Amino acid sequence: MSDGSATGGFDDLALPLLRLRRSVKWTQYEPDVLPVWIAEMDFDVARPIHEALLEAVSRSDLGYPTTDPLADAFARFAHDRWGWTVQSEHVYAVSDVVTGIGEVLLAMTEPGDGVVINPPVYAPFFSTIESVGRRVVSVPLVAVAGRPTVDLEGLEAAFVAGARAYLLCNPHNPTGTVLSKSELEAIADLASRYGVAVISDEIHGPLTHPGTTFVSFASLGADRCKRVVSLLSASKAWNLAGLKCAVIVAGSPSAAEELRRMPESLRYHVGHFGVLASLAAFTEGGAWLDECVRHIAVNRSLLSELVASELPGVRYREPEAGYLAWLDFRETHLGDDPAEVLHTVGRVALSPGGPMGDQGRGFARLNFGTSAAIVTEAVRRIAVTLAA
Ligand SMILES: Cc1ncc(COP(=O)(O)O)c(C=O)c1O
Repeated sequence: MSDGSATGGFDDLALPLLRLRRSVKWTQYEPDVLPVWIAEMDFDVARPIHEALLEAVSRSDLGYPTTDPLADAFARFAHDRWGWTVQSEHVYAVSDVVTGIGEVLLAMTEPGDGVVINPPVYAPFFSTIESVGRRVVSVPLVAVAGRPTVDLEGLEAAFVAGARAYLLCNPHNPTGTVLSKSELEAIADLASRYGVAVISDEIHGPLTHPGTTFVSFASLGADRCKRVVSLLSASKAWNLAGLKCAVIVAGSPSAAEELRRMPESLRYHVGHFGVLASLAAFTEGGAWLDECVRHIAVNRSLLSELVASELPGVRYREPEAGYLAWLDFRETHLGDDPAEVLHTVGRVALSPGGPMGDQGRGFARLNFGTSAAIVTEAVRRIAVTLAA
């Protein structure tokens, strides 16, 4: 019987072993570069997932997926974790969240419609909206008492001007803001008033830090807002991005009805291993997830200390969820694209802020979903770059 723990540890990660991985994080850059960029964590996989996948391989169980059990497993997880009652018939399986966003936009909006996003934001939001023939409408985040949050006035102005959908990122990548229930309700009220569809990417939701409460937009209820869809998956929280499995959750019967316009074939693009791993994660992965969140919360504080002591001029506000740190280099001499200089000079790969919108100029995103030693080494390399 599995104890829910990791197959190995969270902090005893051996860099030479990590460098044997063939995922994009570990192969994109030269071998002397320390990769702390794309949103993949370095931890050993949770034991229940490890066992589920090994069992499938040992049985040569490598065929097409059955996605049917996903909805119930996700609904139980959402209920146990967040007290959110999900109707299983409102859950659709999809290969990944970004594909899901494109399909939901196609189902809920018309060609040429404006879709609001809050830059700086996860870069594929821009390309996904454009790839389905919709228009990006930018309502940048605003800082309220130093906390980046949604500009409600800007949002309303965009809705008044005719935007038909709002692609929300909550928890927000890259800033790590988790919107409170009252912030979500204010957005829901605006969206209802203007008949705007809310599509909420909540992929980082399970990684919300202690002291902050994650509320899914789709849990607010049909009375508050009917045209709501949330997208979640096990892929960030349990680090399964390559396995291809996510869920689209309609927040009301009418949103579920709108989603029936999505192609039937969507679920055939889901990965069989993605389904098996997600079932293991949702049903038996809670203990590992708790341990993971505890670990990244420790790294989050470590990074605060290191930035303050080693990186003069760099600003960092701790994320309320997840393992991504949005570092502000604008007071340093690294220019508009600090990630480029950090790569070439410091041999450390962060994600560039520029593709996340104009507001990302002078910023870079660091992934601390790794060991304390790797976080410390990444900061050392950034410090060397700043001193060069
Ligand atoms: C906010 C957000 N949405 C979506 C994704 C990608 O999800 P998927 O691989 O399921 O498309 C990421 C990955 O980092 C992300 O941060």
